[in-house]
Amino acid sequence: MGTTFTNIGNASAEDWAGITGHFAPFAAALPDRILDQLRQMEGDYGGFPVDRLTHCLQTATRAHRAGEDEEYVVCALLHDIGDALGPYNHADYAAVMLQPFVSEANHWMIEKHAIFQGFYFFHHLGLDRNLRDQFKDHPYYRRTVEFCALYDGPAFDPAGETLPLAFFEPMLRRVFAAPKRSLYQRADGELAY
Ligand SMILES: [Fe+2]
Ligand SMILES: [Fe+2]
Repeated sequence: MGTTFTNIGNASAEDWAGITGHFAPFAAALPDRILDQLRQMEGDYGGFPVDRLTHCLQTATRAHRAGEDEEYVVCALLHDIGDALGPYNHADYAAVMLQPFVSEANHWMIEKHAIFQGFYFFHHLGLDRNLRDQFKDHPYYRRTVEFCALYDGPAFDPAGETLPLAFFEPMLRRVFAAPKRSLYQRADGELAY
C-alpha cells in the first residue's frame, strides 16, 4: 500500500517501513545509473582529442595496467563524471558520489584532482598553475600529483589503450555494493536504510 501523508512530519513508522523497503532495490541500482551517466558522456568532446567517456575509460585503463587496486581504478573511471551537472565543480561532484564507498585517501584525491590537474594548463587560462602547492604538506599530496601525472593527464590519446566500459562494470558493482559510511548509519553501525 502506498503512503498517504502530505507532510513528511506526519509520516508514521509504518510509512517509513514501506519507504525503506523501496530503498534497498533503489540503492542496489546505483551502479546502473552510474553506467548510464558514463554512457551519456560518449561523443561529448568539448574540444578535447577524445570524448569524455573515452577519457574516463582511458584514465581507468592506465590505472589498472599500472597495478592500482580496484577501488582506485573505479575512482579513476568516475573522476570526471560530474562534468555534465557540475561543470564549475566537477571534482567535488565525483568526490561526493564516491565518498560513502571509498577510502579517505581516494576521496581526497578525486576531490582535489581538478586543482592538481590545473598544473598542466591553468597558466594557459590566466590562472595559477601552482594552486596545488597549498597542499604540499598534505599526506595525500603525492598520491594526487601521481593520479594526474600518470593517469588523468595522459588519458587524452586517441591511439591510447581504452578498455571498454563492460570491463570495469564488475569492479564498479563491487565497490558500490555497500557503503563504508552513511548518514543513515545508526549508533551501533547498522544501516537504517
Ligand atoms: Fe577532472
Ligand atoms: Fe580527467
